[in-house]
Amino acid sequence: MIELNCKNVNAMLVGEDNGFNIEQEFENYKDRIKNIITDLNQRKDKPGQWLQWMNLGYNEETLWYVKEYASMVQGRFENVLVLGIGGSALGGIALTKALLHPYWNLLTEEERKGYPRIFFLDNIDPDTMNTLFDVIDLSKTLINVITKSGSTAETMSQFLIIKDRLEKELGDNYRYNIVATTDKKTGVLRQIAEQEGYKTFVVPDDVGGRFSVFSAVGLLPLALTGIDIDEILNGIKDMDLALKNTDINNNIAAQNALIHYLADTQKGKNISVMMPYSSRLKFISDWYVQLWAESLGKAYNRNGEEVHIGPTPIKSLGVTDQHSQIQLYNEGPNNKIITFIRVKNFDSDIAIPNIFEYTGIGYLGGKTINQLLNAEADSTRVALAGYKRPTVTITLDKVDGYHLGQLMYMLEVQTAIAGELYNINAFDQPGVEQAKNYTYALMGRMGYEESANELREKLVEI
Ligand code: PA5
Repeated sequence: MIELNCKNVNAMLVGEDNGFNIEQEFENYKDRIKNIITDLNQRKDKPGQWLQWMNLGYNEETLWYVKEYASMVQGRFENVLVLGIGGSALGGIALTKALLHPYWNLLTEEERKGYPRIFFLDNIDPDTMNTLFDVIDLSKTLINVITKSGSTAETMSQFLIIKDRLEKELGDNYRYNIVATTDKKTGVLRQIAEQEGYKTFVVPDDVGGRFSVFSAVGLLPLALTGIDIDEILNGIKDMDLALKNTDINNNIAAQNALIHYLADTQKGKNISVMMPYSSRLKFISDWYVQLWAESLGKAYNRNGEEVHIGPTPIKSLGVTDQHSQIQLYNEGPNNKIITFIRVKNFDSDIAIPNIFEYTGIGYLGGKTINQLLNAEADSTRVALAGYKRPTVTITLDKVDGYHLGQLMYMLEVQTAIAGELYNINAFDQPGVEQAKNYTYALMGRMGYEESANELREKLVEI
């Protein structure tokens, strides 16, 4: 199981202004945490609670359909192209980046064992899109268009461009190059998919975008590239079992939620930095940033009071960002709590040769890159503690589906518990919807005319 080390938030190490007596705080919040965990588990099956993501680890049916479709199309496509944004893309990106060969798209077909290359278009930069068409042959590409609402302008505009090109190239058969993941009943994409006869997968009810990685949203792109999705689900299930424990002393998601909540509300650490020491985990931070930001950044609490709360998540990468951000974290304002993610066992090791022993870099010879990475992670943690900066460390045995299933599910539960501690609804995103509606209005979508006029006036003003 993954481990959480929270010694570095103890006041004894980082001072009263920056840390706590953590055992005492666990004791103080014991009952509150117990109630929150019990309540989440009681509510999770109730419609309208947006907690269905807690059941995704057990969704054998989806698993079966995803694997069946992936094996049916295996060998038929050179590429998979995922169209999606936010919660419809970030989980898939994080897991494929972590679990596939880091240079997957540069490997030969044989080296990829016949599995396709994979690309994600999660932005609408015209240059990126046009140049992607230079490197992939659309007729040999399976397009997985993912949108829960079925109408997000970015994803649907990409879809329109690609559908048009595919149809011109393949005629009626173009439809076999498209697989849509969307709501089971509603939305424009569902309507088009049914009309055109696309293969479809479902974003389950009561699962928000940022909590959807373990539905077909994330699992399908993974299965298409040959990643073992059973292993991921096993990780989720084991973690779910562990996190059902209502005793905070035995529940790492509750511990980390409480630490982050107290750090923000009592010690002014309103910035949460996620810093994995593994390049393969770099995009886990992108996924976490969305999860933490969209879930906890809210204008109103559950009592309807205006609160404007939410810690700001920042992504960082060890050791790369030691050379860009750590100066600020060590010496700048003491307003952050940093989460390190450490990996115990890398898949490989690289020895540093014993050459130029007579120079100032002679000390590196005979060591390994792994030793250097660990030394740098340790020294950063010690340095931060020296500057009285609180940190926590999550340790994974290795980077594989099992441990990533655990890690991501644990972070989801941590977010849900933090939402309850802040007394806000962690599962809505009115701010995102607002921006989407403004875009619809400015782009002339029917039904948005009134706000379009208002917006145009505002645009002149600001
Ligand atoms: O988490 C969320 O709800 C958002 O980030 C959505 O995932 C994002 O806006 C994309 O929405 P959709 O899947 O409806 O296209």
